[in-house]
Amino acid sequence: MFEEAATIIRDADAFVITAGAGMGVDSGLPDFRGDKGFWNAYPAYSRLGLSFTDCANPRHFADDPSFGWGFYGHRTNLYRETVPHTGFHVIKEWIDKKGADYFVVTSNVDGQFQKAGYADNKILEVHGSIHWLQCQTPCTSRIWRNDETITIDEVIMRARPPLPRCPDCGEVSRPNILMFGDWSWLPDRTRIQEHACDLFLQSRAEQRIAVIELGAGSSIPTIRATSERIGWNLEHATIIRINPREPDIAAPHISLPYPALDALQRIAAVL
Ligand SMILES: NC(=O)c1ccc[n+]([C@@H]2O[C@H](COP(=O)([O-])OP(=O)(O)OC[C@H]3O[C@@H](n4cnc5c(N)ncnc54)[C@H](O)[C@@H]3O)[C@@H](O)[C@H]2O)c1
Ligand SMILES: [Zn+2]
Repeated sequence: MFEEAATIIRDADAFVITAGAGMGVDSGLPDFRGDKGFWNAYPAYSRLGLSFTDCANPRHFADDPSFGWGFYGHRTNLYRETVPHTGFHVIKEWIDKKGADYFVVTSNVDGQFQKAGYADNKILEVHGSIHWLQCQTPCTSRIWRNDETITIDEVIMRARPPLPRCPDCGEVSRPNILMFGDWSWLPDRTRIQEHACDLFLQSRAEQRIAVIELGAGSSIPTIRATSERIGWNLEHATIIRINPREPDIAAPHISLPYPALDALQRIAAVL
């Protein structure tokens, strides 16, 4: 199994890394798999009976901003503090050693690939990034870097004032992340990234592409669908799906039912 994965990597001309929340688990981050997973990570919301879908809703920034920023401010601080695990570097070394080109496609909003040294112009963040802000209205199409200090009362998961505000209209701002029932998200940054990703795929269509998928869940299957679209549409692309609980994929693609870091280190050991 690991030999097979090593062969795909050894033979690859280019790499696509697709990643969901499971990629962060070995860095100590929670995934949100099911309400149980979410409530284990956030007991305060368990007490209130609120799911991930309930919390990740843009209306809170208008109706109850300290609650909205409680969830997103906590996550901002968490992702800022997190050190990406060695698995991020293992893949980057494979790429660099070959001098190969690559693209990252992730639903994670945590900025961990950038932190691990992947180039900003080779990353598609399909749901946006917590490290960018926008106006909640929005009054303009401007987005700006999140340099705010946000303090949270973690017992009640509420942000303490002052809350981040829009520099143009003074309204409470929000992360430039696609939430649930979200009609105000400004998608321009993600659209530019999408365009770069499309160009990358077009230019590599005839080459052997290793698609390494890590920790992508099936409840919001955006990332799994992206891997599959590339893997089934491009003749020379092969997917290595790494996921301890939901590893299924049909041959010729391969399935590694292991945590991301463990699987990457096992592949590295036979490369
Ligand atoms: N870090 C983040 O940015 C973050 C974290 C949680 C959720 N989200 C958002 O929530 C949504 C969740 O969807 P999702 O599919 O990414 O996550 P998910 O929580 O639904 O699924 C996580 C997947 O990771 C797998 N997994 C668990 N531990 C793993 C490990 N150690 N190694 C590899 N895989 C492991 C699980 O089996 C599962 O399939 C996304 O839309 C995303 O934007 C983002
Ligand atoms: Zn504004």
